[in-house]
Amino acid sequence: MSLSFLSECKEKVLNRIDALLPDSNKIVSSMRYSALAESKCIRAGLIFASGNLNKKISNAALIDMAASIELMHTYSLIHDDLPSMDNDNMRRGQASNHIKFNEATAILTGDALQALAYETIVLSPEINQEQKIASIKVLSNACGHKGMILGQQYDLDAENNEYNDIKKIHELKTGKLIQVAMTMPHLGDEKQKNELMVLKGVGGDLGLAFQIMDDVLEISSDSSTLGKSNQSDLVNKKLTYVSAYGKKESIDQAHALSRACIAKLEECFDETEVMNLVGLARFMVERKN
Ligand code: IPE
Ligand code: IPE
Ligand code: MG
Ligand code: MG
Repeated sequence: MSLSFLSECKEKVLNRIDALLPDSNKIVSSMRYSALAESKCIRAGLIFASGNLNKKISNAALIDMAASIELMHTYSLIHDDLPSMDNDNMRRGQASNHIKFNEATAILTGDALQALAYETIVLSPEINQEQKIASIKVLSNACGHKGMILGQQYDLDAENNEYNDIKKIHELKTGKLIQVAMTMPHLGDEKQKNELMVLKGVGGDLGLAFQIMDDVLEISSDSSTLGKSNQSDLVNKKLTYVSAYGKKESIDQAHALSRACIAKLEECFDETEVMNLVGLARFMVERKN
């Protein structure tokens, strides 16, 4: 994967989000502030790269799916940064949403972004009925009390040693949404069943590897490179892969997961068609921010 692939994905998804949110009032300004800020758009990249393996899905459908996933992700970050959660003042190289606006507006902004994530799929003229139902089913399952939110609760509980399964925390809080980004372009189509099974497995493992590297980067990089605090986990006494296994073992585990995912992708798909997905699987553990 060339970095130009990811920047093309980013341009497409940010243009779509821009169009979905014509600036009209305080809540929309706040949604735009966080959703259009500088970010990697990895999850959008995964939608486009995975979508490339399904000849029947249109580019416009993938754009709406990517916008939906990135809106959902942005909501999760705004709430994650709140004083009662990780209490982080910087995100995406700028003041966190609750610092720029205020805490109440940040909560509402997250709520509105989550609703818009679902609405973007439901109203998309390019996504067919079966795909819509399957996408909403999988996305809501991944983001609710059996997925991301449960992971965030366990992440908080681990601060007081009330929970200690770090792999489970990472699979839930981060892995689930990344898994959806890899599978969504194949949902609602019986013919894509085999692809779906492989991508589900790979998506879960890559999501785990991605969050392991997030823990590693937090202690080995600086806040200006990361665009967010590099002290947050330490201050909050978080259970992380690094606190559980040490830095070297964590890096080794993340890279091993990425290598296994790449091998699986290359075994199951056409080499040229899967190239961008393989590149992303590598980038997700080799990234610098
Ligand atoms: C940060 O996600 C939070 C995690 C779930 C690890 P990203 O590293 O993808 O953040 P952005 O979207 O590029 O800001
Ligand atoms: C965030 O995990 C996970 C979600 C937002 C669901 P982290 O707390 O490790 O992410 P950062 O380090 O704040 O980006
Ligand atoms: Mg955090
Ligand atoms: Mg982190």
